[in-house]
Amino acid sequence: MDIRFEEAAVSYGAREALAPLTLSLTENRIGVIGLNGSGKTTFARLINGLTKPTAGRVIVNGRDTAGERSTLPEVGFIFQQPQNQIILPIVRDDIAFGLKGRGLSKAEIETKAEGALARFGAAHLAPRRAHELSGGELQIAALSAVLVTGPNILILDEPTNQLDLKNRALVQKIIEGLPENAIVITHDLELIADFGRVLVFHEGRLAADAPAADAIARYREIVA
Ligand SMILES: Nc1ncnc2c1ncn2[C@@H]1O[C@H](COP(=O)(O)OP(=O)(O)OP(=O)(O)O)[C@@H](O)[C@H]1O
Ligand SMILES: [Mg+2]
Repeated sequence: MDIRFEEAAVSYGAREALAPLTLSLTENRIGVIGLNGSGKTTFARLINGLTKPTAGRVIVNGRDTAGERSTLPEVGFIFQQPQNQIILPIVRDDIAFGLKGRGLSKAEIETKAEGALARFGAAHLAPRRAHELSGGELQIAALSAVLVTGPNILILDEPTNQLDLKNRALVQKIIEGLPENAIVITHDLELIADFGRVLVFHEGRLAADAPAADAIARYREIVA
């Protein structure tokens, strides 16, 4: 993973959601914390090209995101509200949807879709209606739908948001075990407590860039 921000900024009219930011991200695990509205999701959307910088550049694995027509295929994004990324009503079909247009047979697509769920011990969710799933089941379905496309970088925007203790622990374990590079945005500080690099955003600026313990301490200072 090679992500470079070069004086990248995002403004919405007069509001600066992200002040010019320069940094390079190469670590396998990056945490992102900060208050509501501090710019975390804006930062994440710049990485997959969903938001283009209004100034500066964001270069992901050697490509300028501004030059891409839409989002970068190698960056998987699990949204803050996973229900918003479900496209088809049945879980299996929704996961399979991401594999269309790759020259795979119907049987291959089905096998891969079920395999993606099985990775999390959730093969039983395949025939379920996505809108009937619980919050935790939905998180796992959304994760499967993104991972099946083989992203190099995974962005998880508040992945434990609505989860009970059991599903929270499951998602934490899943994140720990992912071979993919992961950028984890969270208010759940325990989730990133072991990370070697955590970014703290405050009012659209990077307030700290440090190992978890130091970054969390800085975050607590901001709140105090
Ligand atoms: N499309 C938009 N138009 C106008 N303002 C926006 C837009 N998206 C974000 N903002 C503003 O940019 C700022 C940063 O928002 P962002 O979503 O990045 O925050 P966040 O740190 O992810 O917050 P939260 O923890 O609540 O998810 C906020 O003030 C927000 O209102
Ligand atoms: Mg957010």
